[in-house]
Amino acid sequence: MTTRTWNPRTWREKPVKYMPDDYPEPRALTRVEQELARLPPLVNPSETRRLTAALARVAEGNAFLLQGGDCAESFKEFTTDNIRDTFRLILQMAVVLTFAGGRPVVKVGRIAGQFAKPRTSPVETLGGVTLPAYRGDIINGMDFDAAERTPDPQRLLKAYHQSSATLNLLRAYSQSGYADLTNLHRWTLDFIEGTPQGDQYRKLADSIFESLCFLRALHPTPDHTSTPMPVDLFTSHEALLLNYEEAMTRQEPSSGHWFDASAHMLWIGERTRQPEGGHLEFMRGIRNPIGVKCGPTLEPDELVRLVDILNPEGIPGRLTLIGRFGSDKVADCLPKLMAATRRDGRPVIWSIDPMHGNTHKASNGYKTRSFDRILAEVKSFLEVAAAESVHAGGIHLEMTGQNVTECLGGHFPVTEDDLSSRYHTHCDPRLNADQALQLSFRVAEKLRTSKSPRARAA
Ligand code: PEP
Ligand code: CO
Repeated sequence: MTTRTWNPRTWREKPVKYMPDDYPEPRALTRVEQELARLPPLVNPSETRRLTAALARVAEGNAFLLQGGDCAESFKEFTTDNIRDTFRLILQMAVVLTFAGGRPVVKVGRIAGQFAKPRTSPVETLGGVTLPAYRGDIINGMDFDAAERTPDPQRLLKAYHQSSATLNLLRAYSQSGYADLTNLHRWTLDFIEGTPQGDQYRKLADSIFESLCFLRALHPTPDHTSTPMPVDLFTSHEALLLNYEEAMTRQEPSSGHWFDASAHMLWIGERTRQPEGGHLEFMRGIRNPIGVKCGPTLEPDELVRLVDILNPEGIPGRLTLIGRFGSDKVADCLPKLMAATRRDGRPVIWSIDPMHGNTHKASNGYKTRSFDRILAEVKSFLEVAAAESVHAGGIHLEMTGQNVTECLGGHFPVTEDDLSSRYHTHCDPRLNADQALQLSFRVAEKLRTSKSPRARAA
């Protein structure tokens, strides 16, 4: 356990990876950081604590975590439709998973702040010209052009304001009955029509609807017109850009605790989880629930070391481990990691990101993922968890409510030839709405038939 003093700047004394160090005017960057530090928080500690409490139930084995959204949000794709459709998709998936698993689903979007990307190569070469790689709209622009690719501090402010407007709309939808469950049922039936597994899914969808009608009869609304059931949708993103996260971190006067007010939940990426690095240093001091991506090179002792640093006291709901191995590696890598956290005894949530270990290049050059491999990784995750007596706590997806053609396969199959027609992502390929719903029905079937153990008490 580490007891060194911490403040939101101590990460600056540590080595950091994947952060830009080529701002042409460092002083302009400092001015923007100071401005961000004066701006209102995007989320507040009470909401963030509510998420920790909800995640504590996941850690105990009594709830399931659904985390999903864009790989990278962008300034260009910032539209009402995009936000609404992602919100709706998360809700549809959550309803399916809730009824199948018989447990509440904690809903966390990769949204309202998911802008910065760790890139494997710092540069990109096209036609003999080499430029800095695109690192996400919060840092530079995607067009292959020297000016666009130069980091611009104003982008931090733009990302902050876009996150704020996105959250504003999400809060309105959450409160206003947009989440009316009858609508959700109708949309889900639209999806089911024409799918080969339609009949099978319809049975599940009908029993969901019957239960909802029953609930509504028990709790009629005064105007009898809609069912404004407030829903809790929390926000999350990768805490890659530590200067942004530092500027957004506020101390709660009543408790003295520090909260990163840029999102409810933050996670550390696979490439920045070095125990001695700046990202671990920053994350250990904030009170938000946090995630860590766990890839194929992570060894059990290193994982326990990460738990020592990030959740020394074993606070339930504080730490989510997000496996991302690849469908061909998960069965080899995961059992020893789950066994290590089980032996350690401090509560963690085990979730699976079946996206980042399953990326490949299609024959026509598009970066893509196949639905079958994504599903295969989730299935293996559920099997390993059952064998290790660990609660399969959640799923972490890159997906969009839009009808994009970025991942291959699904009921309405996307083929390699289709990829070029609606390939809109700014970074990695996302499941489209049909593929994401199909995945949730398939996971739902699995959850219904498998008995996930309740985790040991903390
Ligand atoms: C991501 O979640 O977008 C990502 C970059 O994942 P990972 O850190 O697991 O590669
Ligand atoms: Co990604």
